[in-house]
Amino acid sequence: MQRFINQYALITGGTNGMGYAVAEQFIGEGGTAIITGRSEETVLKATEKLGRKAVGIVSDAGNMKDLMHLQNEIKQYTENIDLVFANAGYGKFKPIENVDPEDFDELFNILVKGPFFTVQQMLPLMKKGSSVIFNTSVATEISMPNFSVYSAAKSAVQSFVKTFATELLERGIRVNAISPGHIKTNIFNNTGLNKEQIEDAVQHIIPTIPFKRQGDPSEIANTVLFLASREASYIHGAEIKVDAGISVIRS
Ligand SMILES: NC(=O)c1ccc[n+]([C@@H]2O[C@H](COP(=O)([O-])OP(=O)(O)OC[C@H]3O[C@@H](n4cnc5c(N)ncnc54)[C@H](OP(=O)(O)O)[C@@H]3O)[C@@H](O)[C@H]2O)c1
Repeated sequence: MQRFINQYALITGGTNGMGYAVAEQFIGEGGTAIITGRSEETVLKATEKLGRKAVGIVSDAGNMKDLMHLQNEIKQYTENIDLVFANAGYGKFKPIENVDPEDFDELFNILVKGPFFTVQQMLPLMKKGSSVIFNTSVATEISMPNFSVYSAAKSAVQSFVKTFATELLERGIRVNAISPGHIKTNIFNNTGLNKEQIEDAVQHIIPTIPFKRQGDPSEIANTVLFLASREASYIHGAEIKVDAGISVIRS
């Protein structure tokens, strides 16, 4: 399929994991992907792998200065953005007593202010028929210890799906979200856990997943591209769970 010929996507956090998979598939279907990441090194590495239809911008989704520059940087490449996948993020998981105000601000900056101001800044470039897709999380549905701040931040994004869908209706911009379950990405690398601790955490998680495996980033990308395509022309204000049923099936 070539559903995105001549289209541009902004994918925040496109150097790895789900964002990278979305960029790869979007390019594979004829589009150009503008990806962001925090460092020159990761952005360059990803754009080299993605090829000539990838554009990389170093931009920290938790930094207001970077967010406010994004529109001008993107205008060097295009005046139209057809898809914003507001995806950049990571988790830090701590018991309530150990969360300090800096941890709280860090997660809310990247996970809540990041997607809000990314979309705000892209709106002048978005025409009728374009679409916004937020990345929420299964963590909004399942209560897990140590997830208090992360889950609250993702719940705020769930709220944006509804309010943005209402406000952007008149402009013909569709707004939706995907809610991933446990997906095999680098998400644990920002948590401060070492390799063994990450492996241990994953081995504890797998038996709780109805399919007994982590999802592949490409399985998220399939859904994001569907939501961005004309096939989803009647889907607005929706959050699609891509989680192997973990949010409804208790093991
Ligand atoms: N994996 C899961 O099980 C899971 C489940 C539910 C939801 N999610 C959500 O999915 C999203 C993507 O995560 P992932 O699992 O694909 O993890 P990942 O493989 O670690 O990828 C995260 C991406 O976000 C970028 N990023 C992180 N902080 C950033 C910042 N401040 N500014 C700009 N880019 C930033 C990273 O790029 P650089 O390192 O180059 O900066 C990377 O490209 C996150 O919002 C996460 O909360 C993940």
